[in-house]
Amino acid sequence: MHLKCLATTLLIVHCISAATVTVKPEDFGALGDGKSDDTVAIASALDSCASLPDDTECRLVFDSSYLSGPIVLKRSKTTLEVNGHLAMLPRRKYCKINSCSEPLHGSFISNDAGDCETLADEYHTCMSDIKIVGEGTISSTNPWQWWPCKYTNCWRPHLVVFNSIKHVEITGVTFKDAPNHNIEMDSCVTSRLHDFVITAPYISPNTDGVNFYGGFDSVMENVVIDNGDDCVSVVPIGETNSDVCAHPELEDIRCSGGHVVFRNLTCNGGHGLSIGGIRHGNVRNVTFDNILATGGQKGSTQDEAAGGGCRVKSYPNSTGIVSDISYNNIEFQGVYLPIQLLGHYCPWPCNTPDGESAALFTNIKFNNIRGYGKQRNTVVEFKCSEYEHCTDIVMQDVSLKARDDAEGHMTCENIDSLEIDVDSLPNQCS
Ligand SMILES: *[C@@H]1O[C@H](CO)[C@@H](O)[C@H](O)[C@H]1NC(C)=O
Ligand SMILES: *[C@@H]1O[C@H](CO)[C@@H](O)[C@H](O)[C@H]1NC(C)=O
Ligand SMILES: *[C@@H]1O[C@H](CO)[C@@H](O)[C@H](O)[C@H]1NC(C)=O
Repeated sequence: MHLKCLATTLLIVHCISAATVTVKPEDFGALGDGKSDDTVAIASALDSCASLPDDTECRLVFDSSYLSGPIVLKRSKTTLEVNGHLAMLPRRKYCKINSCSEPLHGSFISNDAGDCETLADEYHTCMSDIKIVGEGTISSTNPWQWWPCKYTNCWRPHLVVFNSIKHVEITGVTFKDAPNHNIEMDSCVTSRLHDFVITAPYISPNTDGVNFYGGFDSVMENVVIDNGDDCVSVVPIGETNSDVCAHPELEDIRCSGGHVVFRNLTCNGGHGLSIGGIRHGNVRNVTFDNILATGGQKGSTQDEAAGGGCRVKSYPNSTGIVSDISYNNIEFQGVYLPIQLLGHYCPWPCNTPDGESAALFTNIKFNNIRGYGKQRNTVVEFKCSEYEHCTDIVMQDVSLKARDDAEGHMTCENIDSLEIDVDSLPNQCS
């Protein structure tokens, strides 16, 4: 009787440990010396994951330093545990290996969303349970070989792009010197991004921290971002999916964005807490809570089109609705423009022709927003479109000063039903 129990216990222990298989790039020939090209070994390790039973988690552990070309996750239940340093091949070599051909020109880390059939659910996800964890660093190599592409128009990869995945977790690691955006979440569901760091120089172009394109139920918290473009942004997806999205329903996630909670973030030097730029589509239900944003450090590229604060922006001739957005408990220290609604967003060089439509901005709340801006006067700018006025905008418990402790002003254009409590500062349009 006793023995039988033990056997059962052993069996259970065995089953639990079998549910995770750990592999290392070294098992597949990686040198992990930080100088050799380990692309093939890392790809082989991921291929070995693909042959495991579906319910087994495959954990690829990076304990040393590796250089690699694009890393593509091919199956659900895959974890990248980065304790050492995982870096992209330098631009020159990256191109040489892949001959700069388009399909191999992918993001550094991405998933192959090719097997959408298997996981069809109401959200159209294709894979599930993808994680990036660990205490190490994921970075480019020689980022200044990539960043000038902003001006010469050569192609630049994002650091991480996940597409149509149910349950992504990212935690622990540091993302450093992305050539382009750091983390892009496209149409993912139940994403949990928490307790990690993103860092790039304030002057680095387009190093967005985390972008949510579409998706549902995303939470991002306890993250510190130093960078040169949006700290975080939420954008609709599907504007090219004209079959489905010609008349987008608010709830069809293939045509919309939103349903994101951001909590406890620090954003230094970048372009702010953004919704948009909207071209076509809806963004609904986004909450920002407990955030510190700073600006004005050396190299920061904050300006009127990149204010560094709370900002909702749409391109000329846009369509769609931005609604149910709340910015709560936010402190600003010297960002160029703490609060902005911008119905005509078209930073230089502006390539989007003006038309006669604009996305509607409605039900947007600013609650307990404190601190100071960087300009001598304007701290709140509501520049809504003449084609679609902003409605139901609320400011509560706002206390913002301009530079050098000067009184902060507020600009208002094309805004209907603006509600401000009397104690807020500023509390009237000027
Ligand atoms: C808003 O988004 C959050 C986070 O995704 C979600 O939990 C909540 O259900 C959403 N609320 C509505 C009304 O859709
Ligand atoms: C907020 O995030 C920081 C890391 O960015 C963390 O150290 C701190 O504990 C978090 N605060 C709470 C209340 O979770
Ligand atoms: C504005 O958008 C509409 C369709 O939404 C299009 O027909 C029109 O040509 C656009 N205007 C300009 C100036 O691009």
